Amino acid sequence: MTNHAAVSLVLGDIVAQRVDAIVNAANPSLLGGGGVDGAIHRAGGPEILAACQRLRETSLREGLMPGHAVATTAGKLAAQWVIHTVGPIWSPTEDRTAILMSAYRECLRVADELAVTTIAFPAISAGAYGWPLLEAARVAITTTSTTPTQVAEVTFVLRDQHAYDIFRLALDELGS
Ligand code: APR
Repeated sequence: MTNHAAVSLVLGDIVAQRVDAIVNAANPSLLGGGGVDGAIHRAGGPEILAACQRLRETSLREGLMPGHAVATTAGKLAAQWVIHTVGPIWSPTEDRTAILMSAYRECLRVADELAVTTIAFPAISAGAYGWPLLEAARVAITTTSTTPTQVAEVTFVLRDQHAYDIFRLALDELGS
């Protein structure tokens, strides 16, 4: 049977989510950064960075390419796993939608491998990577609600009311 996740929105901090897996909007180095990445490493403690360093020394010597995903421990977080992905940097001249879709799909594929049933996503690429929020929201909602998966619940965690409202709009567009 083909299943799809139910998609919902919450206003808050991704590190506080009580879900099986939270998604990190990482960069190819996997060695930390600002935004969601900084918050996850700060709250999750050094175990997450140590796991990322091990990946860089073994299977991911070249780093994690945009559109790909990999799981590590979630350290001290309530979640069991952090699934790291790298979104595309916004380009005004090149359509990188396929890479952003791939980032969401790959996270769900990794989640399926880990038998995760609840997962929290941030608005990948909508911060430091510069995507216009509505574009990023449309890709996020469309991809996660149409990708076949055993994940039951996808929650988008939006940090401010503006981002929440834009995601609401994208969700309503899809439903209508
Ligand atoms: N919880 C939920 N959402 C958050 C949080 C948080 N704690 N912190 C930031 N956000 C929001 C931002 O407001 C933005 O809408 O998440 C969205 C994604 O922003 P970034 O974290 O900047 O991610 P991205 O745009 O994908 O850029 C990735 O940023 O620091 C880095 O290492 C990371 O270089 C990489 C780049």
